[in-house]
Amino acid sequence: MIRTKVMGLGSYVPDRIVKNEEIPFLDEKHVRQATKQTETDDEWIQRRTGIKERRYVPQDGTTATSDLALEAAKRAIADAGLQPTDIDCIILGTLSPDIHFPGTAVFVQKKLGIADKTNCACFDIRQQCSSFVYGMQMADAFVRTGMYKRILLIGAELHSHSLDYSTRGRDVMVLFGDGAGAMVLGPMETDDAKAGIMYTSAHADGNGAMDLYLKIFEIAKAPYVGYDANNRDENQIKYPQMDGKRVFLNAVRGMVMSTQAALAKTGLSWDDITWFVPHQANLRINEKVVEVAKIPPEKVLNTIDLFGNTTAATVPLTIDYWRQQGKVKKGDRILSSVFGSGFTWGAAIFQV
Ligand code: COA
Repeated sequence: MIRTKVMGLGSYVPDRIVKNEEIPFLDEKHVRQATKQTETDDEWIQRRTGIKERRYVPQDGTTATSDLALEAAKRAIADAGLQPTDIDCIILGTLSPDIHFPGTAVFVQKKLGIADKTNCACFDIRQQCSSFVYGMQMADAFVRTGMYKRILLIGAELHSHSLDYSTRGRDVMVLFGDGAGAMVLGPMETDDAKAGIMYTSAHADGNGAMDLYLKIFEIAKAPYVGYDANNRDENQIKYPQMDGKRVFLNAVRGMVMSTQAALAKTGLSWDDITWFVPHQANLRINEKVVEVAKIPPEKVLNTIDLFGNTTAATVPLTIDYWRQQGKVKKGDRILSSVFGSGFTWGAAIFQV
């Protein structure tokens, strides 16, 4: 039987570390000012979110989401022992694309130097914090049907240029960071039903669509895009909007449900799972999920304190970080559950 295996893993975060202490002093270009720009502080951020620091790209206009994706992709391809030309499909999850269209996967393809060499398929997917599990489900189906054999699955986000660095935007702004993670997925012949990617599930509830969103434009309107920096209502569409409490409650519910369903549908128990890697949105969300779903705390891997919420990138970034620390090892079985804007949620069980 053909099953899908994780052939390689890689991640990338920019060098600049932005600690909570620096956050109140950042202006709209995330340049540190002498005076406070936002009413917030380290104590509030740590207590409510568990975040201590995050990474930001330089603000000199040289780095796009595809550049973060590229670095993670190169590392995952090298980890798989492959060349970029071996990739026959790219699936990229992001809510911060380089431009509105075309999708960011084609920019990654070009930057990998394989655009005219392979003309490989390029998909952008838009499931925000749930993108990596959604993408894994797609990749698994493609590999098992024989459609593609070397799929590059990437989650990449550049949040720091689209946050509202003011007291108005503080509830969202403090949460997010920049980063990317990637996997190469391919086929293996095996009779072991637990090998490789064992299970994926993906769900959505569009009733929550406007509880966490970023408009930028409204295509229903003509002109469809406008900007007046002096008009508070007008420029608000350029920044993410969130009903934090509704997101929090739905995230706990979605991640608990998908985690419990993953175990029930596969017949596995926590004895069969090496690590639980939840989406990294808020440490309090993850602690609640662990408590309600009765997950052994010693099996939980988080990186929210170091990287904040990197949306589509959190799952591979967290796995790769803990692999570099020597915790995650080849063959470990991971249960990952995710939740994001949409609302979307899902879970996956796979070996790395
Ligand atoms: N610094 C200081 N104060 C802040 C703040 C910040 N960064 N952000 C909000 N506040 C204030 C609020 O204005 C409010 O003030 P008020 O009581 O005077 O009105 C107070 O803190 C409490 O706000 P509240 O929204 O009740 O806090 P909370 O405990 O719900 O925590 C979040 C806020 C955003 C941390 C929390 O709702 C959350 O994490 N939600 C989920 C967000 C998420 O994970 N999004 C991504 C999903 S993929």
